[in-house]
Amino acid sequence: MADAHQKVEKNIGLMIILIIVVVSIGGLVQIVPLFFMSSLTEPVEGLKPYPALQLAGRDIYVRESCMVCHSQMIRPFRAETERYGHYSVAGEFIYDRPFQWGSKRTGPDLHRVGGRYSDDWHYVHLMNPRDVVPESVMPGYPSLADNLIDGEEVQHKMQVLKDWLGHPYTDEEIANAPQAVEGKTEMEALIAYLQNLGTLIKNVR
Ligand code: HEC
Repeated sequence: MADAHQKVEKNIGLMIILIIVVVSIGGLVQIVPLFFMSSLTEPVEGLKPYPALQLAGRDIYVRESCMVCHSQMIRPFRAETERYGHYSVAGEFIYDRPFQWGSKRTGPDLHRVGGRYSDDWHYVHLMNPRDVVPESVMPGYPSLADNLIDGEEVQHKMQVLKDWLGHPYTDEEIANAPQAVEGKTEMEALIAYLQNLGTLIKNVR
């Protein structure tokens, strides 16, 4: 036994191979079961791919880098669930590509902000946060109220999500996408997205 140990210690090639074998086993034991756990791979009840307007709003959220200051990931700790509501579960993010979990909380977590405020509150807050939260350090985004959503672009995105990634959009939803966002501003789209966030699992406080 001592001999074998010495052999491994003196032969770096053999040692590398054995290390890879051991690490792979450890990795597989952790990773493989995740692919088969339905709580991680199946959407929560009622989850649908984002409707046209919310999809456009989500892309604005990404474009404006809101995730730099806001997470969308409530951890299962009492301090978090008391403040934000039910902790986030994997099945809520099936149609988030990419997900916006984030890791920085300059502002509060937004995963369950849907329905917490009125659309008007969000409008005022996004125009100039200090009008509703005087001490806020969040920047204002007034230009969103001037820009219109491009319906054809949203339609194209929905088609790609369906064809390439299997999001279950109906042909009708895709055909009606330009109509659904017609005349809507980026501000309205972003608010529609925020108002839907985390609403499938009701806030348990
Ligand atoms: C520089 C950091 C920063 C960025 C970037 C930022 N925020 Fe914020 N946000 C904050 C802070 C700080 C607060 C808490 C004070 C307040 O309510 O304004 C906040 C609060 C909020 C709230 C209210 C949350 C609650 O539960 O009260 C919403 C909604 C929000 N932000 C949305 C956004 C969106 C959408 C974007 C991107 C367009 C964004 N934020 C970008 C820092 C930021």
